[in-house]
Amino acid sequence: MSLLEVREVTKTYSLKNRYGRTSQKNEVVNNVSFSLNRDTCLGLIGESGSGKSTLVKIILGLEKPDQGEVRFRGKSLFKLHSHELKELRRDLQVVFQDCYNSVNPRLTIEEIVAEPLRNYEKMTAEQQRKKVQELLEIVCLHPDEMKKYPHQCSGGQLQRVNIARAIALKPKMILLDEPVSSLDMVVQADIIDLLADLRDMFQLSYLFISHDLHTVRYLADQLMVMDKGRIIETLNDMDQLDQLKHPISRELITTI
Ligand SMILES: Nc1ncnc2c1ncn2[C@@H]1O[C@H](COP(=O)(O)OP(=O)(O)OP(=O)(O)O)[C@@H](O)[C@H]1O
Ligand SMILES: [Mg+2]
Repeated sequence: MSLLEVREVTKTYSLKNRYGRTSQKNEVVNNVSFSLNRDTCLGLIGESGSGKSTLVKIILGLEKPDQGEVRFRGKSLFKLHSHELKELRRDLQVVFQDCYNSVNPRLTIEEIVAEPLRNYEKMTAEQQRKKVQELLEIVCLHPDEMKKYPHQCSGGQLQRVNIARAIALKPKMILLDEPVSSLDMVVQADIIDLLADLRDMFQLSYLFISHDLHTVRYLADQLMVMDKGRIIETLNDMDQLDQLKHPISRELITTI
């Protein structure tokens, strides 16, 4: 059984004119279907505005599709009660591109990483602190960083914090929505290496999203190309990138 199954998902946003009437319908995700197995990294690439982040929001249950179904571990997300969805979300985490906006600026790094532990685990303050220390170590951050606030961290450090928070509950899958796009090249490579190590360490599955094939190909086992809300091409073997046929996919290849 697939870990994640997305079936015929469609999402349309209505654009309203200044009188509040619907002037145009924008099909942002159009009949998208795919599945992702355990221990797999599926890369999703597409130009800006092709609908990648909207798809992530739908998979997380933050947006409801007009049509279609999302199943995680065999359970249909949109049929679950909120407490069932909360339980399922233990295993389905996310890391977004904008590391600063992904955290509460008023919390310390320790409090940020402890958030999921507070929400899901019954731990004493001491156990929680030890666990946060352990998680920071895994993402290669010094325990001294625990007392810092987000504005005192670099982008790379803060993305490591976001990753530490994402792995805190030992999830089965992480949605990575352009997790390195806002970082400089050297830091990008470090974070990609870290994600590769974590994948092995925790047998994680990733949906790795980017508009850049360059970063995706280091991690991904399989690839989907999205354009104007549709999956226009899929590849089951990253060693066969030259087999991509669609002109838009070919254009992406020229960037690597
Ligand atoms: N809440 C919304 N209401 C109306 N339109 C929206 C909404 N959210 C997204 N869109 C539109 O949907 C389209 C797809 O947006 P989305 O953020 O999913 O693209 P993306 O592929 O993630 O792009 P990027 O690579 O820039 O992050 C865009 O045209 C965007 O303007
Ligand atoms: Mg996006």
